[in-house]
Amino acid sequence: MEFVRLSQNGRVAIATLDSPPVNALSAGLRRDLLAAIRQCAGDAGIDAIVIAAAGRAFIAGADISEFGRPPVQPILPEVLDAIEGCAKPVVAAIQGVALGGGLEVALACHGRVAAAGAKLGLPEIKLGIIPGAGGTQRLPRLIGGAKAFPMMLSGEPVSARGALELGLVDAVAETELLAEAVALAERLAKSGGLPRTGDRTDKLSAADREAFEGLAAQAGKSSADMPNAMALIEAVRAAYTAPLAEGLAQERALFLKLVVDERSKALRHLFFAEREAAKVPGIGAAVKPRKIAGAAVIGAGTMGGGIAMCFANAGIPVTLIETQQAQIDNGMNRIAAIYDMSVKRGSLTQERRDQRLALITPAVGLGAAAGADIVIEAAFEEMGVKQQIFGELDAIAKPGAVLASNTSYLDIPTIAAATRRPKDVLGMHFFSPANVMKLLEIVRPTGVADDVVVTAVALARELGKVPVVVGNGFGFVGNRMLEQRTRAAERLLIAGALPHEVDAALTGFGFKMGPFAMADLAGNDIGWRTRKSRGKTAAVADAICEAGWFGQKTGRGYYLYPEGARTGQRDPEVEALIAKVSQEQGVTRRSFTQEEILARLLDPMVNEGARILEEGIATRPGDIDVIWLYGYNWPAWRGGPMHWADGVGLDAIAARLAAQAAETGDPALEPAPLLRRLAAEGKGFASLKAAAA
Ligand code: 3HC
Repeated sequence: MEFVRLSQNGRVAIATLDSPPVNALSAGLRRDLLAAIRQCAGDAGIDAIVIAAAGRAFIAGADISEFGRPPVQPILPEVLDAIEGCAKPVVAAIQGVALGGGLEVALACHGRVAAAGAKLGLPEIKLGIIPGAGGTQRLPRLIGGAKAFPMMLSGEPVSARGALELGLVDAVAETELLAEAVALAERLAKSGGLPRTGDRTDKLSAADREAFEGLAAQAGKSSADMPNAMALIEAVRAAYTAPLAEGLAQERALFLKLVVDERSKALRHLFFAEREAAKVPGIGAAVKPRKIAGAAVIGAGTMGGGIAMCFANAGIPVTLIETQQAQIDNGMNRIAAIYDMSVKRGSLTQERRDQRLALITPAVGLGAAAGADIVIEAAFEEMGVKQQIFGELDAIAKPGAVLASNTSYLDIPTIAAATRRPKDVLGMHFFSPANVMKLLEIVRPTGVADDVVVTAVALARELGKVPVVVGNGFGFVGNRMLEQRTRAAERLLIAGALPHEVDAALTGFGFKMGPFAMADLAGNDIGWRTRKSRGKTAAVADAICEAGWFGQKTGRGYYLYPEGARTGQRDPEVEALIAKVSQEQGVTRRSFTQEEILARLLDPMVNEGARILEEGIATRPGDIDVIWLYGYNWPAWRGGPMHWADGVGLDAIAARLAAQAAETGDPALEPAPLLRRLAAEGKGFASLKAAAA
């Protein structure tokens, strides 16, 4: 056997799964596990079997990369039937994680022991599917449907202790996992009669069913747009109404239908893209990160304060620096208020709040950055300001400190040139609010030291962020594409659409907010200032700002917000203003369907994404998708802009862009050469291979 090692402890066989890195249930592992069970079942010298694991996971679940391909025998349900039906007791010794199919293996066993640090869960819902190897049938039988259903609906794992309380495991092993599992196996072998999860009905009482139906009714409303949540309800209900075999068949049919759905494909694409994005091309595993024991953040505004909170939340001491006492006081008060809100909501204890605040040291003057291993500058977005700060930092920061700018647009080498150590300088672009948004664009200019890049990636992980390494270039990846969408939205207004129609196209697509509601929330003056500094104009957006309609904070923007309302109402004055701009530009306004609006908003973004790939600013199309998922709330089940474009067909997108370029005379809308080439070859972005990893 290639992936399972068999050994013996007395009369108990130990089948150790060893398929690095996480024992995903690939065809090979399934084959070997089934063979191990059969071999032990037929061996007169063996009374019981323990399934254990080498490495950091018991089993991370089905092998997600096999989904959507023709099934390879034996399929997982067959392996589980062999385990549950085995005449000798089979016990799972769970260490690390038992997720998805991994927990389903454990459920089919006759006993389960978990290591104290283990995590157990059925996260299939996050991949757009439901458990497909008995999870929806066996978990309710073991712990009751009313407890099993929420676990599967959230997909969140439980701790070993939590699992013990639920009755999901028989014991928690503080130190000797294998010894306890062997002891349980021996006890079961002596007891006669095996506890088979599939045979149990005791937890599926009328009261439990009633509680489950209550939860299902709630989920039916709150998750009505999630086909897999609806399928989950149906499958769990079958646990109450049908015998095991029938319930398993129903579950399998639902699972197989969901697995080929575009939504699940998109979520799986993102799962792998996120992991791929963390791999930095051209830097080998031998390059180690520098040690980060303390940090400094320059600028205690919303962004700097949020970044400081990221460090404090991860337990890393951070000095927050401002130029004046009043500003640092304001910054610290803002941070305290955010933590207090979390305490009030119950997501943070008072003790933790105090600990986190104590990790943030307020200071006035750059001198306070002297002891930091990393300094992140989050000052005013102006090159002169940044250069001055980095020039001063050069004299203050300790040798080997990583110097990062949080700029969202500016040229990193120009900032680095203000120091005599450009090898230590890179961009770390957090997204607002920095303590919430998971994306971190790590901007890698040519000339930065490899270990500085690796340090930023490792730190991002420690801060709970999703790092994506990108190249240097105006707006990097995310904001550069966003600019295209912003321009497209303005163009649509002038051509005939209204703000609420444009926003509705994006919310209908799955975004939480459209561009105009978003601009009103963030403040229209921000974009105005940026445009002015770059000598750019946008007729409607500029006119709105000239009228002082900066958005929610002024009570009106693209929409009206009477009495502090959070949701905007249509504003006839804005609509008249837009019509006037159209007239001034000699445009005959026309109506647009929601599909047309959507295409006009997203196609230019995809086009820019293609240019970004051509220029090597992003390494892989998946990197762009991850950036849009975690930085701009792209709806996960749509897989990101490049994945979406592949689904639409690049030939269709190229043709639409060419038509728009001809209509507007805007060369930026001409299909990018890469897009043209792929479209002509009938390929998608997914066909592109990553640059040498
Ligand atoms: N299938 C295939 N590959 C997997 C995998 C899986 N289930 N789980 C992890 N991997 C791969 C990752 O892609 C990564 O590969 P790479 O090194 O080539 O990039 C490698 O294993 C390590 O993964 P991580 O980088 O994520 O390692 P971490 O230690 O950070 O996390 C983990 C480990 C918690 C197991 C995390 O990988 C995870 O959450 N995995 C997915 C778990 C899951 O969703 N399981 C359910 C699958 S669906 C299922 O079981 C259906 C069933 O009901 C029939």
